[in-house]
Amino acid sequence: MTLDNSFTWGGASAANQYEGGYNEGGKGLNAVDVLTNGSANEPRKVTWEMPNGETGATSLSWDPNVEFKLPKGAVPKILDGYYYPSHQGTDFYHHYKEDIKLMAEMGFDVFRLSLNWSRILPNGDDEEPNEEGLAFYDKVFDECAKYGIKPLVTLSHYETPLSLIVRFGGWKDRYLIDAFTHYAEIVMKHYKGKVNYWLTFNEINAMDMAPYMGGGLIDGSEQNRAQGAHNQFVASAKTVKLAHQIDPKNQVGMMLAYSAIYPYTCDPKDQLLVMKAKQEMLFYSDVQMLGYYPTSRLKKYERDGIKLNDTVEDYELLKKYPCDFLSFSCYTSNVVTTHANDAKAAGNVSSGNITNPYLEANAWGWATDPDVLRIGLNELWTRYHKPLWVVENGLGWSDTLTNDHKIHDNYRIKYLRSQIKSMEDAVTLDGVDLMGYTMWSAIDLVSNGTGEMKKRYGFVYVDRDDRGNGSLKRYPKDSFYWYKKVIASHGQDLD
Ligand code: BG6
Repeated sequence: MTLDNSFTWGGASAANQYEGGYNEGGKGLNAVDVLTNGSANEPRKVTWEMPNGETGATSLSWDPNVEFKLPKGAVPKILDGYYYPSHQGTDFYHHYKEDIKLMAEMGFDVFRLSLNWSRILPNGDDEEPNEEGLAFYDKVFDECAKYGIKPLVTLSHYETPLSLIVRFGGWKDRYLIDAFTHYAEIVMKHYKGKVNYWLTFNEINAMDMAPYMGGGLIDGSEQNRAQGAHNQFVASAKTVKLAHQIDPKNQVGMMLAYSAIYPYTCDPKDQLLVMKAKQEMLFYSDVQMLGYYPTSRLKKYERDGIKLNDTVEDYELLKKYPCDFLSFSCYTSNVVTTHANDAKAAGNVSSGNITNPYLEANAWGWATDPDVLRIGLNELWTRYHKPLWVVENGLGWSDTLTNDHKIHDNYRIKYLRSQIKSMEDAVTLDGVDLMGYTMWSAIDLVSNGTGEMKKRYGFVYVDRDDRGNGSLKRYPKDSFYWYKKVIASHGQDLD
């Protein structure tokens, strides 16, 4: 049994990690343009300036229990003396023809990319779009069309325009609902006929995990995160409505950062932890796929004294315009436990800081779980019964370029083989409705979590290091040729 011809194969990217050209073609700045590089042990930082000229940098947190907050009055700003990896990314801006050709050589049906909102509307809410910005993506989509590659477009992949952050403090302000739908309307009308697959917010649950990244929040308090999420839900529902009006062929997906969550022991207390962690993660997909807030979240807000600035119309929109499909990223699984002091449980694997003794991990502590996609796909399918799309899955690894310009990434092939097998089992054995698979990432790009270049994911190596040195030349890795075979055989030949 295998995947049929309608299944779409491809790769993924995000403008802030890939595109570069941060100040070219009339582009305004976005949230990530003021993020420094970091490492596995050192978080990236947001650089800022106070009205009195004082400057500094605040660590970006990926821990929902650590509140993210810039000093009062500080405004994110690019400063001298810091290195900002997004400014050049891996230069898709100047390499798009070459890169799309490489994707076509692998046999891609689909290429996931994000539009840099501030390339189109430099301040995020300009009345008229920046024509040069629109023209850039026209060229990209035309190039894709040349090879029969369909674009899957994320409207916001952590790229909230900086001007909206400075003026409104990010997504906590309802004004961003209007700014976003204005932007969505412009691009959906402009690219009508060129793009039919859209995603509203990348990893919408990042609002809880990384409020600056996900919501452009200067103050990531629980109140602001709750409001930021609500505003993104409403903006997304309005976008679904718009998309269907503009072109009935449009399909709009939500995008969730998914991870399977396992209990470390069979202690019922550990099962409760799993249940709670899932409620936190799936709250986002419940609202966007079912059209209403789950009671567990409403009760949490009640307990925590969170008050939403909402309207009756908001909830009507959520009910009436859920997303057409659910897309998700999935790299790893996490373990939770009430027995964290057990010597075997205390480790450095993944965000829960609990080691899964049954799994290996990469150098960044992300467990490589061969069954995670089958588990995730079944969980999401059973809960929502709407089409799914794996839009991110891959292995971050520090690849070595040999003297003869080869990259022997058999570790990546091994990981992807198990992931694709797991995904295929979910479809062929369990009957999950899956639209496609876009591996992260088509071409090497900057790591989002750390800002490093050395945490590479691509099928194609890009000559660039952690300080931005390198020729930017592209070299296909061994996995490039392997994936080509996988696509040509519709996922049957995984050897
Ligand atoms: C997802 C993001 O969280 O994971 C991507 O949507 C990101 O932007 C990817 O690059 C892998 O994470 P990282 O931190 O290894 O780049």
